Amino acid sequence: MSLEFNKTAAAVLTAGITFMVAGLVGEFLVSAPRLHTAAIATGEPPAAEQPATPAGPTVEPIGPLLASADAAAGRQMAQRLCASCHTFTEGGNNGVGPNLWGIVGANHARVEGFNYSQANRALADKPWDYEALNAFLQRPAAAMPGTRMAFAGIRDPQQRANVIAYLRSLDANPQPLP
Ligand code: HEC
Repeated sequence: MSLEFNKTAAAVLTAGITFMVAGLVGEFLVSAPRLHTAAIATGEPPAAEQPATPAGPTVEPIGPLLASADAAAGRQMAQRLCASCHTFTEGGNNGVGPNLWGIVGANHARVEGFNYSQANRALADKPWDYEALNAFLQRPAAAMPGTRMAFAGIRDPQQRANVIAYLRSLDANPQPLP
């Protein structure tokens, strides 16, 4: 009777120990990969801490600078930088570049018979407003990929404002300032 009881007790005990060991092993098997994943995850900074991708080169708005721009200084600069390719007088000839009389507010690629790029012709229904001129004159190739105007650009915003103020003056009725 007591032997029978001992056997039963031993069986229950063995089952209990087996169950416990199986549980521990199971827990280890499950948690080991979790620890592994956590170690990899902490090796990288969270996405939110990564710096935002810088947006391309920005062009400072020219509007605020135009009010105090110096058209006479812009004329001198245009004579130096642009006159090898452009004329500025009413009815002036086209050179390497088109005549620029009345360009502010005029549509892109407006001079009849001038060999404009496809890139500029594609904008023929858009005016050369102040900001379009600003971006183009800062870096022609970036503002209008495919342009035929082989000119590096004017980096200084105040100098660009001066040149644009001069271009604005090339008109019987200059466009209002922005
Ligand atoms: C090396 C010659 C060259 C120089 C220097 C040059 N340009 Fe041009 N420019 C061109 C050519 C060529 C075009 C036609 C661009 C096209 O169709 O893509 C043009 C186009 C333009 C246009 C657009 C005209 C239109 O009818 O759509 C403007 C505005 C302009 N130039 C202003 C300037 C100013 C201002 C300067 C000086 C700061 C300058 N350019 C310097 C050759 C030049």
